[in-house]
Amino acid sequence: MTPLLDVAELSKRFPVAASGSTLKNLRRRFTRAADEQSQVHAVDDVSFTIAKGETVGLVGESGCGKSTLVRALTRLLDPTAGSIRFSTRDLSLVPARDFAKDRDRGRIQMVFQDAGESINPRFTAFDAIADPVRRLKHLSGLALVETVDKAARQCGLPTELLGRYPHQLSGGQRARVGIARAIAVEPELLVLDEPTAALDVSVQVVILKLLARLKTELGMSYLFVSHDLSVVRLLCDRVLVMYLGKIVEAGPARAVFDYPLHPYTRALVAAVPRLDGIGLAKLRLSGEPMSPIDPDPNVCRFYGRCPRGADICRTQMPPLRRAAEGREVACHFAAGGA
Ligand SMILES: Nc1ncnc2c1ncn2[C@@H]1O[C@H](COP(=O)(O)OP(=O)(O)OP(=O)(O)O)[C@@H](O)[C@H]1O
Ligand SMILES: [Mg+2]
Repeated sequence: MTPLLDVAELSKRFPVAASGSTLKNLRRRFTRAADEQSQVHAVDDVSFTIAKGETVGLVGESGCGKSTLVRALTRLLDPTAGSIRFSTRDLSLVPARDFAKDRDRGRIQMVFQDAGESINPRFTAFDAIADPVRRLKHLSGLALVETVDKAARQCGLPTELLGRYPHQLSGGQRARVGIARAIAVEPELLVLDEPTAALDVSVQVVILKLLARLKTELGMSYLFVSHDLSVVRLLCDRVLVMYLGKIVEAGPARAVFDYPLHPYTRALVAAVPRLDGIGLAKLRLSGEPMSPIDPDPNVCRFYGRCPRGADICRTQMPPLRRAAEGREVACHFAAGGA
């Protein structure tokens, strides 16, 4: 079956600004040609699919490229290379600046980490939810009011709150406005970039339950970015583990967290405290993460921190290869051959 989203060989690189007065920057500015400018390899040759109705988690440490990846595939920024097929149409061919008016714009919606910052402070909750409905569904009058009201009710927002401005709402209520605004245009894929990170723990639980309920009710697919592995394990069918711009492991969420194949996933899972005391033996990472600026394409990004690091790891980048039971891993030494 054709997946809803099929991302292939996607890369996003940012040029490193040669401004600034550090000796290194000045040396770079005067010795390098413009086409040799250094680049941050934020997302590097990433491929994955999301099926209709599937929830896929995306995890990895800060700065590994999660937000850049989701911003590229929601077309908020242009990828450097690769394709983003959404129901067979390659959205990477539509420039980011034109996507706001694109016919497929409403089919992918994004929920941001801080709903307070992503909502225009001069918009009431009603205006915030109505804005994409007006632009993408071209509704007005009573039809617009009814659509906004329905989305608000689905997200547990009482009608009385719709006249309030963001600063008059609690963090949990603002998160509900952010979700209502995204679902009001009936998307098929909801991309959530750490949607509960700005909320306190009790509100997080309520919002996560709301997201789980909406998914079942509306039959959407989710791409769920989170630092919280236990939430990803509970909420997601599959998980992608990212390290310095690359996917290093992918597979069913429970299997990946219970039996991680990649040494980085092992370290990530081992760092999560468990109430039952059962867990993987602590795996402490030593060494500094590699720089994302002009990394050597032949060296495994985890080399230098990996307890296993061998000669082959610094001469040959391990590709993401198939392992047992629908799993993939990018490590020369991980068990589970195809
Ligand atoms: N607009 C930009 N210009 C230059 N570099 C950028 C830009 N946006 C992101 N980067 C760099 O790309 C890399 C990935 O950043 P990104 O924000 O995608 O990470 P992340 O995994 O979302 O991190 P976090 O968990 O902290 O949100 C980082 O090295 C970051 O400095
Ligand atoms: Mg981020």
